[in-house]
Amino acid sequence: MKDTLVNVENLTRIFDVSKPWLNRVIEREEKKLLLAVNGVSLEIRRGETFALVGESGSGKSTIAKMIVGLLSASQGKIDFDGIDLSQPGGAEMRALRQRYQMIFQDPFASLNPRWRVNKIIAEPLRKFDMESSESARHKRVEELLELVGMSAKDGVKFPHEFSGGQRQRIAIARALSSNPEFIVCDEPTSALDVSVQAQILNLMRDLQD
Ligand SMILES: Nc1ncnc2c1ncn2[C@@H]1O[C@H](COP(=O)(O)OP(=O)(O)OP(=O)(O)O)[C@@H](O)[C@H]1O
Ligand SMILES: [Mg+2]
Repeated sequence: MKDTLVNVENLTRIFDVSKPWLNRVIEREEKKLLLAVNGVSLEIRRGETFALVGESGSGKSTIAKMIVGLLSASQGKIDFDGIDLSQPGGAEMRALRQRYQMIFQDPFASLNPRWRVNKIIAEPLRKFDMESSESARHKRVEELLELVGMSAKDGVKFPHEFSGGQRQRIAIARALSSNPEFIVCDEPTSALDVSVQAQILNLMRDLQD
């Protein structure tokens, strides 16, 4: 096993923030490009916690989204466990996707409001065909809920029936359900109350151990 899990080299992302073509022609404006991420290289080892710090708008979320494949990179290379993420297609990509997950900043926006918690947490299991039967999936969801400090009975509720901290626990349970080796957390506690922030950080540290 290689020690380096994620290796990012010279990652760059340019956003096109120009006005629509017709407006540009009429107003005689040039195309406007925004350099959000410029030549970032980093290396994350297995089992390591890697923190990315920077002021607002410095490109942290953009880097996170490129690493998990939610945004394409304009330039640069992302390797996961030695595999170039821009290369594989189809089945290989699917197998890779199972190995990393993301927890977003805002648990109010990242959980589908129309789905019960059971279904939300089971989605990665279903997507990656991880448990053989519906009852095995159900059991796994109950385990995950208890793992993040909630009750197995909470699964039948909807996201709006929970507090911010509880929702972030649900988001963590979902991220953990496919047994990922790597989790990208984009400010997972900044939408939460200060007292709850510590609980979530402690939970994440325990789970990492
Ligand atoms: N989809 C997009 N289209 C155009 N510009 C974008 C887009 N996403 C991000 N940007 C711009 O890229 C820059 C970096 O944004 P990003 O969200 O990565 O910052 P951040 O470091 O995560 O900030 P924060 O700490 O406030 O979350 C910002 O100037 C932002 O306006
Ligand atoms: Mg951000």
